[in-house]
Amino acid sequence: YQLHIKSFFDSNNDGIGDFAGLISKLDYIAELGVNTLWLLPFYPSPRRDDGYDIAEYKAVHPDYGSMADARRFIAEAHKRGLRVITELVINHTSDQHPWFQRARHAKRGSKAREFYVWSDDDQKYDGTRIIFLDTEKSNWTWDPVAGQYFWHRFYSHQPDLNFDNPQVLKAVIGVMRFWLDLGVDGLRLDAIPYLIERDGTNNENLAETHDVLKAIRAEIDANYPDRMLLAEANQWPEDTRPYFGEGDGDECHMAFHFPLMPRMYMALAMEDRFPITDILRQTPEIPANCQWAIFLRNHDELTLEMVTDRERDYLWNYYAEDRRARINLGIRRRLAPLLQRDRRRIELLTSLLLSMPGTPTLYYGDELGMGDNIYLGDRDGVRTPMQWSPDRNGGFSRADPQRLVLPPIMDPLYGYQTVNVEAQSHDPHSLLNWTRRMLAVRKQQKAFGRGSLRTLTPSNRRILAYIREYTDADGNTEVILCVANVSRAAQAAELELSQYADKVPVEMLGGSAFPPIGQLPFLLTLPPYAFYWFLLASRDRM
Ligand code: GLC
Ligand code: CA
Repeated sequence: YQLHIKSFFDSNNDGIGDFAGLISKLDYIAELGVNTLWLLPFYPSPRRDDGYDIAEYKAVHPDYGSMADARRFIAEAHKRGLRVITELVINHTSDQHPWFQRARHAKRGSKAREFYVWSDDDQKYDGTRIIFLDTEKSNWTWDPVAGQYFWHRFYSHQPDLNFDNPQVLKAVIGVMRFWLDLGVDGLRLDAIPYLIERDGTNNENLAETHDVLKAIRAEIDANYPDRMLLAEANQWPEDTRPYFGEGDGDECHMAFHFPLMPRMYMALAMEDRFPITDILRQTPEIPANCQWAIFLRNHDELTLEMVTDRERDYLWNYYAEDRRARINLGIRRRLAPLLQRDRRRIELLTSLLLSMPGTPTLYYGDELGMGDNIYLGDRDGVRTPMQWSPDRNGGFSRADPQRLVLPPIMDPLYGYQTVNVEAQSHDPHSLLNWTRRMLAVRKQQKAFGRGSLRTLTPSNRRILAYIREYTDADGNTEVILCVANVSRAAQAAELELSQYADKVPVEMLGGSAFPPIGQLPFLLTLPPYAFYWFLLASRDRM
């Protein structure tokens, strides 16, 4: 469960969410049925990139509380069986970080200057793409104090650290140890493909970058064997695979599956399973002790970097007709507005998220179907205050509305009067309660988290069907059949399941038994946008 402290709950009514507020809402998160919290950056920062522009690594932004609050939060989360993942943003810092201030004043070529990447001209590494296309013209920015250009893959106020300087790696490992010593369970490695630059390359995924990650992992293995690294590498599957490392996995334990995400939306738009089955086919095996992280939405734009130009235009036209909804190479909208509040489609995509191979990541508020505000700057429109109740500011804060860190959503369809935790908690049919049930059902079966995946190929391409299968150490096998209709019309499909002849498909949400599987193709009909999860049970166990 991914969330921003700033936008979750404000305990002291200054208009900004804080650690104490988050602690008071931990029961809500635990009751949702998730097991891990991923916190967006909460460190001192000018917040020109919402905290990914870090000005001090080993501290808490005073708006959010103190180190003592952070410590208390970790203890309270652990008490409820929740693990904590925080951000390790090491590709860049804020230009306000003392390392950068020291570097720009230091002598050329000195160790202090070399904490960052400098050049006398802005043509070096010109084979490198620009990521924040809407705001940046170049990956170089002139620094009048240093009298040189500095390198940045993101905003021009975010200079990239120089991992060719061994002192940088040492300092970064110090930061990592600081948070692990505090009790953090996992670290999301932000923007990890861009650590090292080399002439004549595109400066992404370089072997030397992987060496840095191996050094970081070695530190974890030596001193923190029960902790976890999660890679944010927005890359094609074959370029992401190396972030799990070689052999037993000697880099990150987990990595986000960026190419799968847009293809779930693509399948829905085209009413065809092909985008999903195609990317799953291209997804390489990963070491047994590694795992994908999958997601539908997060705090960033829905990125369309990992699709072709044609697919991007298709998705933009379908999901972001309003140009304000577009930013860089993506779409700055939340899940519910993307799917036009169509409960069937929200449930369908969520069912895929919860049944595909990998650890599902939920973005705060999406369990309510929260809306967004495309008129806010940058990606702030998907980072608005959590909607707790119909009270002032959606129950997020009792501050004057003008003081809030971001304006809450207030329109009649998505506003906090309509969409909020309190109302949905009381409504047995709410999206919130549906999500809780889905998470509870998912948890009962190991096959979702650990099982293998095999896609079926019914001739009706509007039907996506796959088998998740897991055998535990005692030889007990769980087989789950997932079937989804990605089209807006009712469909029938014949599934070749003869290898499971005699098994009885039991629908997992309601527990109804379907006719036993035989030698002939298994016929299923599905209403528009419907999905089924079946446990294939032995007849004698019925
Ligand atoms: C990562 C973050 C994003 C941020 C960027 C630059 O991609 O997810 O929010 O803007 O890094 O710091
Ligand atoms: Ca506050």
